[in-house]
Amino acid sequence: IASAAIVEHVKNVVVKPLCKEQRIPTVNGSLPGPTINVREGDTLVVHVINNSTFSITIHWHGVFQLKSPWMDGANMITQCPIQPRNNFTYRFDITGQEGTLFWHAHVVNLRATLHGALIIRPRSGRPYPFPKPYKEVPLVFGQWWDTDIEQLNLRPAPICEAYLINGLAGDSYPCSENRMFKLKVIQGKTYLLRIINAALNTHLFFKIADHNVTVVSVDAAYTTPYGSDVMILTPGQTVDALLTADQPIGMYYMSIIPYLSASSLAPAPPRKVINSLIVYKGATSTTSPSRSLMPSQINSVSTAHRFSSNITSLVGGPYWTPVPRHVDEKMFVTMGLGLEQYALRKPRTISLQEAYFYNISGVYTDDFPDQPPIKFDYANFRVHTDSEKKMIFPERKTSVKTLKYNSTVEIVVQNTGIITTESHPMHLHGFNFYVLGYGFGNYVPARDAKKLNLVNPQMHNTVGVPPGGWVALRFIANNPGAWIFHCHMDAHLPYGIIMVFIVENGPTPETSLQPPPSNLPQCTHDPTIYES
Ligand code: C2O
Repeated sequence: IASAAIVEHVKNVVVKPLCKEQRIPTVNGSLPGPTINVREGDTLVVHVINNSTFSITIHWHGVFQLKSPWMDGANMITQCPIQPRNNFTYRFDITGQEGTLFWHAHVVNLRATLHGALIIRPRSGRPYPFPKPYKEVPLVFGQWWDTDIEQLNLRPAPICEAYLINGLAGDSYPCSENRMFKLKVIQGKTYLLRIINAALNTHLFFKIADHNVTVVSVDAAYTTPYGSDVMILTPGQTVDALLTADQPIGMYYMSIIPYLSASSLAPAPPRKVINSLIVYKGATSTTSPSRSLMPSQINSVSTAHRFSSNITSLVGGPYWTPVPRHVDEKMFVTMGLGLEQYALRKPRTISLQEAYFYNISGVYTDDFPDQPPIKFDYANFRVHTDSEKKMIFPERKTSVKTLKYNSTVEIVVQNTGIITTESHPMHLHGFNFYVLGYGFGNYVPARDAKKLNLVNPQMHNTVGVPPGGWVALRFIANNPGAWIFHCHMDAHLPYGIIMVFIVENGPTPETSLQPPPSNLPQCTHDPTIYES
């Protein structure tokens, strides 16, 4: 087994994507941070040296962490953070998955600048289940603020100054006209775009002028090839898509634009198109590029829904396993801005996973309910009674849901409407789940359960729950440890769109949580500088 050893040096540096210089935490001085390239079957070793002024953890978003739950990097869930002037080494095997993922800091808001691509290629000698591309190109989407990271909580999300494609804001922003990501292509060749939405709080449409793409993978799970002229990525989602340079020699914009699904909230600026460029070999710089995106697509719920719900898994492809038919645990979870069963109060002195491993009582309770305490019209929820009021201000509790080892879990996540409804990207650590169905309005078991796709459902680690709608998910809890399930819009964690599963030990030592590494960071003082 090969192993890739990487050093991530976290330090504050001064950058200037727009007109103003700003000091930000970075990994190895760059924004986005370095791309990590591995092959399936590798052991990845990352030495994190924290010379920044922040306490951090690094999460390997979408990596299964089979038998390495201490390496998940979820702040106060699987570890205490790495304090300034301290180090920690992440070491884990990458098995049973291929495609594009990413790594990011997992402490509130720090993901804004501490992120980068994590690309898993097949073991040597194994082909992709699609024609070999001429070149591969990571495209990392980020968000930019003229505000210090510590101040972000004081600003309404998703308002920001700009969006970045591979760290560059392009020609629609002041002071960045000449700093635009450019992809040089040769006519006739095919490129694999490895696209990552690392924005903190915004879903993004992505479109290339005059070109269609073929999606071959989402969240590092192979899909049936799916041709499309536009894509949507929620924060936390990744897409691998083939692009063939099949147009006349010239220049073409490759653009993103925010998708603001909360139609009744005033759309937040900036609503501009953010450009990068495809430049064909032989193109003259005097021709002006073809444009790609129309701002009218900003709030196109139907465009977003069509793209997200049409994708299916590559049945019979690498790592495909059929959907388990028998369900052991059924949950119905309501979720929105203020309609949750509980808002998670994180422990302050020890991670949840250590509390489980060492059997320390008093850190958490395991009474997270399988159903909301009261029933009503969730999608059109308005407050009438006191018990409904209680749901708007969920109790802050460290309450987890325990799962038996190897149990099959089905969760229907119901998006609720309090102030407004918007799409929430729900992300599960440690597992991929089957997305059995999406719908608008309330989930009605008698009507909707029989329509679920048990044949070729897409697999994800992050799914956008439609505004005022629902998704039905299934996964197998085959990895003991503490795993969070949360909205990947960072701003929504304090509202309580976060819950924790503790998957219990299996019957043998091999299927049980092993002791933590001896150098796992300890909580020496209150690590939650500005985290609630
Ligand atoms: Cu990419 Cu818990 O997050």
